[in-house]
Parts: sequence; structure tokens; C-alpha cells
Amino acid sequence: MLILGIETSCDETAAAVVGESAPRIRANLVLSQLEEHRPFGGIVPEIAARAHLAHLDRLVQQTLETAGVGFGDLDAVAATGGPGLIGGVIVGVTLGKAVALARGLPFLAINHLEGHALTARLTDDVSFPYLLLLVSGGHCQLLIAEGVGRYRRLGTTIDDAAGECFDKGAKLLGLGFPGGPEIERHARDGDSRRIPLPRPLKGRPGCDFSFSGLKTALREAVAERGGAAALAPRDVADLAASLQAAIGDSLTERTGHAIEVFRRRHPKGSHLVVAGGVAANRVLRGSLAGLAARHGLELVAPPPELCTDNGAMIAWAGLERLKAGLVDGLDFAPRPRWPLDPAAPRARGAGVKA
Ligand code: KG4
Ligand code: ZN
Repeated sequence: MLILGIETSCDETAAAVVGESAPRIRANLVLSQLEEHRPFGGIVPEIAARAHLAHLDRLVQQTLETAGVGFGDLDAVAATGGPGLIGGVIVGVTLGKAVALARGLPFLAINHLEGHALTARLTDDVSFPYLLLLVSGGHCQLLIAEGVGRYRRLGTTIDDAAGECFDKGAKLLGLGFPGGPEIERHARDGDSRRIPLPRPLKGRPGCDFSFSGLKTALREAVAERGGAAALAPRDVADLAASLQAAIGDSLTERTGHAIEVFRRRHPKGSHLVVAGGVAANRVLRGSLAGLAARHGLELVAPPPELCTDNGAMIAWAGLERLKAGLVDGLDFAPRPRWPLDPAAPRARGAGVKA
């Protein structure tokens, strides 16, 4: 079985061909739009949509060539149907539907978050149920993955996502975009204890997250030192290390609470999975590994290139959904908002997107 996967929900134009037998990933191409967005210090939705439109056809062709297959060899087409920047999602969904229609193939509209959520099954065959920390630029959630299409949300951010905190923190320090890798790189030479930053919600019950107070504390620490332009390299390194430690501690502490809930509901559950772009962070992976070990769980963290947005996760989710009979019609309408757990109450803080 071979599935073409298309991902266009943010600033990565990505396509992949994935099969069930090893090696599962036959081709996985990601075209970053960083250069187009860099002058603006963040992602501009209109530029993203136009760039997807300009590059997606060629990228899909290259992906098939790399995999050594043609359209006639495919069994289905999967495309991200949301949540995300709607202009880009429309571009990917439209191409996916066109291929499906022209070739008479099943079409699968994939929830981008389910793509991240199922990556650990693509890479490590993790079985359900597992506890999932989903941390990306737009999302920060703790979920129990109970099956394909079945997720129970235990907590979410009440303001910013963790990736957003890395990105905005980097901007405050005068570093580039995306902020996560920049913070991680500068933090390597830094002392995380010299300029301490708060751990939001620490000690409070529950599994929700908050990062906006941390961002404010960083802004004040930078202002006290005369602003980003006046920061000495040592200050930048120490503040980057301090921010990374605060985000990592906060994610780890809240995940600890979620493990207790997971244990009560699924006493035999054995895995903690971390997914999404922030899961590429090595310090976070280290502290989650420690947490999992203390609770007798195994941590599964996909390789960094499968944590950030990619087409392989969309193709794999398509494969899993096809096997479960969850095919979509060509009338599927792209969704800017699409919660994984529709029953979870909507969070309402400033900046909340999910
Ligand atoms: O999953 P993703 O590629 O896109 C979304 O769906 O949002 O996640 C992107 C986010 C960005 O906020 C980026 O700064 C963050 O993941 N990120 C990292 C690292 N690599 C990417 N954050 C911390 N450390 C990293 N090494
Ligand atoms: Zn993502």
C-alpha cells in the first residue's frame, strides 16, 4: 500500500510517499519558506499560501520521482485538511482532491495534529493507548491517544503555545526565526540559573499550560539590560538557557500531572509520546525521558525531522485512516480550526487558537 501525503498548513510545503512495509518512508521532501518570511520576523499567511501554490506541483512530482513511483502506483492521497492557515490548507487539499479524482483514488483529509500524534506509530509502532504531549508553534496539548481518530484532551494552553514562546522569546533576544532552534543553539553556552525566569502554573493542579507570563518576564529582563541591541553575548546565552529551562520545566511538570490521570484511566498504558516541532528540542527530550523513567513509562520521541512539519506524517495518518475505513469525500471543506477532541471545552485565554 502506497500513500501520497501533502502538508501545506503552515510555512512548510511538504510531500511524501509512505508505505506499510519497511522502509516505510519512500520519499519525504520538505521545502521551507523561511527566506520568504524572514524579512517579516514571522509567518505571513498570504505569502505562505502563494508560496505553496507556486511550489507544490513540482514538489509532488519530485517526491514521486524520489520514491521511484508514478501516480498509477498510489493507493490513496492524503492532504492536511486543517487546522492551520486556511489559504495554504486550501492549496494542498485542492491538489490532493485533483489527484484523487483524476486517478480514481480514495482521498483522506488529515487533521494536522493527528499527523503529529500518529508519527510515533510510523517510527516506533507504539500501540494505543498512549499519553501524548503535542507541542508545536500553534498548539500545546496533553492528550490520551486511544485509537485512530480517538483522542481525549487532558490539558491545553490557556494563552500561548510552547513553540510560540520560543519564537517570541527569540525575537525579544534579537535572534532569528524560527526561535526554537535559535534558542537551543544559543542556550548551549548559557547558564540557565544566572537570570532566573518563572515556571508558570507550577504546583497548581491540572494539565493546562500558560506561557504568556514567562514571555513578559523575559521582556522585562531584556528591558532591564537596556533592550535586545544592548545585550552582551553572555546575556543572550544565559537568557536563552533560562527560557529553554523554564519552558522545559513547565512542560515536564504539567506532563507529570497528566501521567497520573493516564495511569488511573489506563493502568496498562506504557508509553509517553512527544510530538510537534518543539519535540525536536534536546533539553526537553532529556527532561521528559527522566520523567517517563521515574514513572516506569517509555518515552518515544520521533527523530527531529519528523517532529517538525512534514508530509510523511500526513501520508502515514492517511494510511492508518484508510485501514480504519475513514475515507473522506471530495466535498471535504478545509478547516482553519479542528480540535482533536471535539468534546473538550474550548480554552478562552488571549491568543488561544485551539
Ligand atoms: O510542528 P511545527 O513544525 O509547526 C507547527 O505545526 O506549528 O512546529 C514549529 C515550532 C516553532 O515554534 C519552532 O520554533 C519550534 O517548533 N521548534 C523548536 C525546535 N525546533 C522547532 N522549539 C524548540 N527547540 C527546537 N529545537
Ligand atoms: Zn505541526
